[in-house]
Amino acid sequence: MLPEEVIAQLARARCVAVLTGAGISQESGVPTFRGAGGLWNNYRAEDLATPAAFARDPVLVWQWYQMRRGLCAQANPNAGHEVVAAMEKHFDCFLLITQNVDGLHGRAGSREMIEIHGNLWSGRCVDCGLIESLPAGELAALPPRCSRCQGALRPNVLWFGESYDTALLERALQFLAEVDFLLVVGTSGLVSIPLSLARVAAQGGALIVDVNPADSGLSTIAHHSLRGRAGEVLPLLWTAANKTLS
Ligand code: OAD
Repeated sequence: MLPEEVIAQLARARCVAVLTGAGISQESGVPTFRGAGGLWNNYRAEDLATPAAFARDPVLVWQWYQMRRGLCAQANPNAGHEVVAAMEKHFDCFLLITQNVDGLHGRAGSREMIEIHGNLWSGRCVDCGLIESLPAGELAALPPRCSRCQGALRPNVLWFGESYDTALLERALQFLAEVDFLLVVGTSGLVSIPLSLARVAAQGGALIVDVNPADSGLSTIAHHSLRGRAGEVLPLLWTAANKTLS
């Protein structure tokens, strides 16, 4: 049963943001990082997702990213991603901020989007900084090489110990200060960024709604926690809000 306040506020919202984490892609078959089946249960982030790890063994790091790129290439957007894309079409003032690097939001049709942790479908040259798109599937060499200077390309994602892109972060923060509804979906909140972003929206007076089958770091900030899977809860919520509108 969805709270009436959530349905009504979404239906009459002027400006909406959605903040997503790995949980929204779980029903597409993309593993989350933590919890049952989580990547960090079986792999050590310090061996695979840090600049030092890449400097030490770029081939190992790329093999791990090739495994993840393969999983994501086979996955398809689910009903949760589709609702987020539909919300963007509906609201004149809308922004999606995702921690996900899988590209599924884009494939579902989302365009007003900040991929705050980067994207698996491009590489960045460690020497000259050129960003190049990388096709799914086998790469000619590991690490792939920069077409401009032949330097090694690294995955164009944020690693542990690295700073957020300040321009992207600033855009997200400015937007969140203005929203009246923030929907947070499928993030544990165990890295600090979703909590910091949600706090800014809360301080600006937004209603914060968290969608997650389990308790998360967001539960303490959220005005409402909708306990369930994104692919089930989001379509119910969006249908209910649309009924209120019509
Ligand atoms: P986590 O793996 O930490 O958390 C996933 C969350 O999704 C958990 O709270 C789950 O309960 C929830 N979840 C699972 N299935 C779900 C479903 N079907 N619908 C909705 N929610 C579901 O993933 P993130 O919070 O995204 O960073 O992790 C944040 C960052 O930590 C990642 O971007 C990554 C990781 O280390 C970097 O690699 C820099």
